[in-house]
Amino acid sequence: MTLGYEKMSFLGSSTPLEKMENISSEFGAGFYLKRDDLTPYGTGGNKLRKLEYLVKDAKNQGATVLLTVGGAQTNHGRLTAAVAAKCGMKSAVIAVDEYPGELSANLLLDGIMGCDVYLVKPDSEKKYGEQLNAAINKVTRSYEEKGEKVYFIPMGGSNEVGALGYYDCAVELAKQIDDMNIENPHIVTTVGSLGTYMGLAMGIAHENIAANLTGISIMPYKDVKESALKHYISCTEKFGLKPVLSKKDFSILTDYDYGAYNNPVKEVRDSIYHMGSREGIILDPCYTGKTFNAVRKLVEKGYFAKGESIIMIHTGGIPGIYTKHHRLEMEKELMGKIHIM
Ligand SMILES: Cc1ncc(COP(=O)(O)O)c(C=O)c1O
Repeated sequence: MTLGYEKMSFLGSSTPLEKMENISSEFGAGFYLKRDDLTPYGTGGNKLRKLEYLVKDAKNQGATVLLTVGGAQTNHGRLTAAVAAKCGMKSAVIAVDEYPGELSANLLLDGIMGCDVYLVKPDSEKKYGEQLNAAINKVTRSYEEKGEKVYFIPMGGSNEVGALGYYDCAVELAKQIDDMNIENPHIVTTVGSLGTYMGLAMGIAHENIAANLTGISIMPYKDVKESALKHYISCTEKFGLKPVLSKKDFSILTDYDYGAYNNPVKEVRDSIYHMGSREGIILDPCYTGKTFNAVRKLVEKGYFAKGESIIMIHTGGIPGIYTKHHRLEMEKELMGKIHIM
């Protein structure tokens, strides 16, 4: 129970906090990964922590269908499908997005787990939100007509209840940091829909955890700190907490988004190869690859204080490497590694 809310148990136990020895030597600083890519079900990732709380809430309300939204290749949709399957519920994902031309990566996994995916062809004459809401209403009605009860989960599971998942992660990390005697931890996480960052920021602030936190935005935001503040205030209101953070306390960097969401970027792929070839750990091109690329650049720039250890949250997303537009770029770069004899 956290801040008055109960959760399902999808994780079972703490995810590992592992030191990456080869990259630590390169950085001249301790570099650790919090392995949230290793969470069980649906090939893992950060959304399972949020879904522990969201699905409990859905069950309390007697829901039979989990309905969520995102891009066609949403990781959050894939993990919603996984927990729905586990709980004997139905799942559905709505995306205002084109069919990517093949049933691969998350879309393939969604199908394997029995999830219905509704793709709405984008209409440039209409606003995105308008098209999405119309589809949500239509799909919800169609389930209700069949006697189902739909529980709607917003993009990325990033509402107040979902933020509790990473509040718990901050507490879990604090214990691991202590057990492993990690000096002056600086936690770095990806910022997409903000739920992971917000949960960590709240946990660190309200549980008095001695750690710095930096978020790396992976897509352009108009004013990401303002969005963070609004989200924080609504969380504190929901949970009856006295706000202790203001806009200036949200350390979220916007210099490493490369101008778009989920775009193929050479430097990001290089960072994925860098991690893979030194530590045997796979990052994804949309989220964790961009974040690790930012970490490398920040180390070069001297952003982290001397003696600070860096803990990057590996939020998962690995199926993303199998999406066509990323895979084809990697194929060009890596074909030299294939030796036909
Ligand atoms: C693999 C992965 N990492 C990070 C994020 C970002 O998390 P959040 O949306 O909570 O900011 C997402 C969101 O979809 C994700 O799928």
